[in-house]
Amino acid sequence: MARQQLSAEDKDRARRMKWWHDARFGMFVHWGLYSQLGRHEWVMNRERIPLAEYEQLADSWKVKPRPAREWARLAKQAGMKYMVMTTKHHEGFCLWNSQMTDYNACQRGPRRDLVAEYVDACREFGLKVGFYYSLMDWHHPDGARCAKNEGARRRFVDFTHGCVRELLSNYGPIDILWYDVSWPLPTPEAWESAAMNAMARQLQPHIIINNRSQVPEDFGTPEEHIRAEDAGRAWEACMTFNGSWGYMPYAPPEDWHSSRKVVEMLRQVTAGGGNLLLNIGPAPDGSVPPEATERLLPVGKWLKRYGEAVYGKVDRTDGCFEWGPLGQWTRQGRVGYLWCSRWPGKEIVLGGFRSKLKEARLLPDGEPLPFVQTADQLKLQGLPSRAPDRLTGTTVIRCEFTSVPKQQLGAGYVLL
Ligand code: GLC
Repeated sequence: MARQQLSAEDKDRARRMKWWHDARFGMFVHWGLYSQLGRHEWVMNRERIPLAEYEQLADSWKVKPRPAREWARLAKQAGMKYMVMTTKHHEGFCLWNSQMTDYNACQRGPRRDLVAEYVDACREFGLKVGFYYSLMDWHHPDGARCAKNEGARRRFVDFTHGCVRELLSNYGPIDILWYDVSWPLPTPEAWESAAMNAMARQLQPHIIINNRSQVPEDFGTPEEHIRAEDAGRAWEACMTFNGSWGYMPYAPPEDWHSSRKVVEMLRQVTAGGGNLLLNIGPAPDGSVPPEATERLLPVGKWLKRYGEAVYGKVDRTDGCFEWGPLGQWTRQGRVGYLWCSRWPGKEIVLGGFRSKLKEARLLPDGEPLPFVQTADQLKLQGLPSRAPDRLTGTTVIRCEFTSVPKQQLGAGYVLL
């Protein structure tokens, strides 16, 4: 079969995105004036808070010294490799020292450049740096009327491009530009997105850009669900931890994803060749909610043991495996990783494998397991009677086959 020719653009994209694919797991941070209210980052809009009243939050915002170091330390401990922070959310308040507006963290409340602190913290902990930027802006006077008035559109687009220029000029190498909500302008032409992204790439030649400026760019951003995009297209699922992006002290503990659930999300994205960007919404002073810390630390420990099944170049599992009641798979070439989340005891029986097993081992460092393979059954034996993994109850078994694994069961009892 002739190998598909990659265009120069595809090659350049593959080169720029290698680290991102290998990284798999990142931390999203939603933090802004809304954090003070603790009722979701859309609180200004949902409660119809008058602008003059909301603006007072810019002066009351008190931030403890360098909270970004706490986030970055936690991200590192959790096995995350990059971070994306809201530099400006829909509320319009800029967390950096902007010349485009004085509604910013240097001139109001905190009187510090919170973006600079965040970038420093990422660098200190060896994490790649991402900037979230909301195109929609509820504070800028032209932010809504730009849809109906050409003068307003001109001013608002200049403001938007100016903000992006500042962010990508003043903080050294930036790895990811993560746009959000392109309301109210209806087309990429109206936003002048092509020019904005060309500017971004000129300032930061290695940058990776998401798909929310109404052009596809480098990766798709499924939100609050995990579903693989078409093969060949990079994607990253962004997920809240407790149903709100912004700080939400009113969320009961059962609304927070468990460590076990986060591990399952990691399996789902890995199986589809995607990434997971998991959010924390720090408290107004920047502290990490304890619920997040408590759940992320075990995930990091789990990844230390089982990271081989997650990080680096992975292949999609489509067409290789069937669903199974004890757990699902990720894959790297001929190696399948069975994420056994319901441990059955000493033997695991897998039906329908058409490829031959060469060796099976418990990660991280188990001896080869005894196994028996017949035409329709593969039995892994000599397993401990209790699930070896005590962190989340998900144990990974590394199964190396002699060819790309192929399991075929069909819905009926016997394949016709
Ligand atoms: C949505 C929300 C926004 C959040 C974003 C994260 O677009 O409007 O509040 O920041 O999702 O993906």
